[in-house]
Amino acid sequence: MSIRKCLFPAAGYGTRFLPATKAMPKEMMPIVSKPLIQYGVEEAMSAGMNEIGIVTGRGKRAIEDHFDKSYELENQIAGTGKEGLLAEITEIIAQCRFSYTRQVEMLGLGHAILIGENLIGNEPFGVILADDYCVASPDSVMQQMLKIYERYQCSVVALEEVPLDRISRYGVIDGLESDGVFRVSSMVEKPQPELAPSQLAIIGRYILTPDIFEILRKISPGNSGELHITDALNVQARNDGVVGLKFKGSRFDCGGLDGFVAATNYTYDALKMEFGA
Ligand code: G1P
Repeated sequence: MSIRKCLFPAAGYGTRFLPATKAMPKEMMPIVSKPLIQYGVEEAMSAGMNEIGIVTGRGKRAIEDHFDKSYELENQIAGTGKEGLLAEITEIIAQCRFSYTRQVEMLGLGHAILIGENLIGNEPFGVILADDYCVASPDSVMQQMLKIYERYQCSVVALEEVPLDRISRYGVIDGLESDGVFRVSSMVEKPQPELAPSQLAIIGRYILTPDIFEILRKISPGNSGELHITDALNVQARNDGVVGLKFKGSRFDCGGLDGFVAATNYTYDALKMEFGA
């Protein structure tokens, strides 16, 4: 069975980009001229996930407007050379169904995913954190993960080897590699370098089996008071329920300025090569 739904936790404040994110969702920050979340939705679609669930919060209405018709604007540019600039987003709106729910308090990624339960229901689903901007070809990262899901029928996390001095920003796995995937035995959320079980960090792409919701309801928040998806995945891992994929491609952490600027330069150069702009 293919996976139809993809969840986008998008309630966070994006304080690292203030003042840009004072009135604008961080997911709407553009890489060249396309918002981060649109890249994410395109990646979900590439894996056949056309039902898009977005967990939003206060100040995020621009996301809903982006994935909707804009009659006035479309009318204004109809018949001009600018019409083509809306072609991609118009196609996305035609092909996807969008649903939204609000996370009233920011209590961690696990909490955001649990809030998304009413958009997902009882079926496996993808999760994309839009500020992890991934470039991969010919298969997108979510397509690569879907192939692994089809083989193992369990939760899948995307892995990237990161330097030890940055390991404490991520969930980190312990596990053994076989047949190109890691059988995850356990995970630690944001460990100090000396306590990290490996240098394999979980990045913002997941495929989750729906039992994750029941687990999230039962586990306790971590020290920070946040409900961690890593802790829920740990429960699945104890029953051989999690595999990790070191994906092929590049990831830019657009939650911070360095990654955002690198992603912008990379994408601009790629577009110039393609269109000779
Ligand atoms: C979350 C997860 C972490 C994961 C990261 C990927 O952290 O808790 O395990 O490695 O996303 O981006 P956050 O970035 O929300 O602090």
